[in-house]
Amino acid sequence: MKPKKGFKLKERFLSIEKPEELDDITLFRYAGTFLGMWHIDGYFILVDNIFIDSGNPNYSREEMLAYLKTLDKDRNWMILNTHMHEDHVGGNRLIQNELGAEVYSPESVRDFSFVSGMMDLFWGRPEMFRYNMLDREVYTTDRGRKIEVIPAPGHSPDHTVYRIMPDNIIYSGDAIPVPGRKRYVTLGEDYVAELQSLKKMMEYAQSGTQFISAHHGVVKNSVKLIQTRIDGMSDVVNRVGELAAAGVTSVEQIGLQVFGKPEFLYSKFGNQLRCREDWAIQSILDKLDCKGDDFAK
Ligand SMILES: [Fe+2]
Repeated sequence: MKPKKGFKLKERFLSIEKPEELDDITLFRYAGTFLGMWHIDGYFILVDNIFIDSGNPNYSREEMLAYLKTLDKDRNWMILNTHMHEDHVGGNRLIQNELGAEVYSPESVRDFSFVSGMMDLFWGRPEMFRYNMLDREVYTTDRGRKIEVIPAPGHSPDHTVYRIMPDNIIYSGDAIPVPGRKRYVTLGEDYVAELQSLKKMMEYAQSGTQFISAHHGVVKNSVKLIQTRIDGMSDVVNRVGELAAAGVTSVEQIGLQVFGKPEFLYSKFGNQLRCREDWAIQSILDKLDCKGDDFAK
């Protein structure tokens, strides 16, 4: 996937394929441009009659609709969401309208007004859809595969991952952060809980579970990818803890020492982008207040 020549404020991409190694699981990859640069990139999947997540709202609707029209409307379509962020539920309405899919979510949201005007312009704001709260521990597809519901909180309060059996594949949503040393979080994100969930994912990876991540796609080396993030996030938690123990109370000062100078985009547009460094530090400090300084162990 490459940017086409010229300045494209809103270029959209969607690919739909069944990679050989995924045994008939459909992999959707979407991307978009941010001021002409390819920037937004994500994945969701379809396992028999069950979609897991549905991507960001701005991928090519025409291509997705054309694909949905090839599917048999009489099957019992479902969508399982990992969490209610806009880049995971953006196709829910379209899939629900076209196929009558039942949506199940671990979290509730009334609308998507938390998506700022600027984000909406580049990234999109989902149209609302009907949904139920997750109501079982295992969902069964119409071809007999089991989809286990595994809580992995932190990135959002009830973030959930799904393990497809017998394939032994976890679709991990946003449980594996994109950067190795996570710096920016969304409001309500719990840095320490996210680290604990990563450690839980590591146990699966070490025992041979394959991962499909919402922003890494099919992961080649899950143990390595997850370990890098455990190391990076543990380092951040420990350094914040050390600075707090040494009496540094300013979140800004702690940020400067742990992460260095603020990046222009985030320092200027943090609220608009819905991701901030000070929220990351504050969420660590909040945990520190309750549990003492050895919680990252
Ligand atoms: Fe997310």
